[in-house]
Amino acid sequence: MSQSNTGSRSITDAAEQAGHVLAEVEKAIVGKREALMLVLAAVLAKGHVLLEDYPGLGKTLAARSFARALGLEFRRAQFTPDLLPADLTGSFVYDQREARFDFRPGPLFTGLLLADEINRTPPKTQAALLEAMQERQVTVEGETFPLPAPFHVLATANPIEYEGTYPLPEAQLDRFLLRVSFGYPAPAEEYDVLARRLDRRQEEVELEQVTDADGLLAMQAAVESVTVDESVARYCVDLATATRTHPDVLTGASPRGSLGLVLAARAFAVLRGRDYVIPEDVKAVARSVLAHRITVRPELWMTDASGRGVVDAVLTQVPTPATLEPR
Ligand SMILES: Nc1ncnc2c1ncn2[C@@H]1O[C@H](COP(=O)(O)OP(=O)(O)O)[C@@H](O)[C@H]1O
Ligand SMILES: [Mg+2]
Repeated sequence: MSQSNTGSRSITDAAEQAGHVLAEVEKAIVGKREALMLVLAAVLAKGHVLLEDYPGLGKTLAARSFARALGLEFRRAQFTPDLLPADLTGSFVYDQREARFDFRPGPLFTGLLLADEINRTPPKTQAALLEAMQERQVTVEGETFPLPAPFHVLATANPIEYEGTYPLPEAQLDRFLLRVSFGYPAPAEEYDVLARRLDRRQEEVELEQVTDADGLLAMQAAVESVTVDESVARYCVDLATATRTHPDVLTGASPRGSLGLVLAARAFAVLRGRDYVIPEDVKAVARSVLAHRITVRPELWMTDASGRGVVDAVLTQVPTPATLEPR
């Protein structure tokens, strides 16, 4: 699976631009480098991200910052209990003067959508979001409208133990390429958040735009030309299949999981400045790609068995292929 020089030059360019994007976002977000790299890898791999965490950890700020640096139009939709599918898709509105119905697009028609607190909204509205994510188009009253390209969703969800929520069914969680948690900052980082805020004497952090929609499409195309050795692709399959036979597991990762693994690892390789994937790239994304696709046995729900634990176990059990330097 070799590639032309043009391919690797565009990969070098994409890696450089991605580095600039991360640097801009890190002007706003303190720490969280690994989480930010994963979010960017998902976008470069044309995927959607679920950010699962407590409020106030910088998810909204990160989403805005990525939109700004990537030059994508940004919209935010708050998923309240009374949000209806049409509030996302848009609907036909009667135009008196023209005497006809016009389609008024909803917040799905954007470059980067922050779908905030999706587990506070009932399943019908969640389904409308997930359908749009999958199909990259919406159908309203029998008419189909394509969404802009690129179109990416960063959805936030409160951890399940939070009250009054509608947890997403596994079949829908599968639609997210990655699930990422920010987690609480270390005290030194938290101090840095405060110090930076006091220094700049305003709420807003000003970020440079690094690229735009077309630039991102070119970066995504570059990611498509990253070399994946057969041994690495087989490793992805072995990890996914091992989640299905783990004793704690009711249902493991589907082939969408192993596919997600190879696609996310390819984008991660670009972030690390390489034009080929090594097993370390797969390991770096494995938890975020696989953990949310695994359901542990119901009799273990009160124990600390979790999708994450299963992924960690299979990462140690499944033999890692030898790293080869291609060409
Ligand atoms: N890691 C961080 N780096 C910089 N600012 C942060 C960080 N975590 C939290 N903040 C600050 O806390 C505020 C709340 O973050 P926000 O993005 O609204 O959280 P969330 O969307 O996760 O609820 C932000 O506006 C920002 O000022
Ligand atoms: Mg928020």
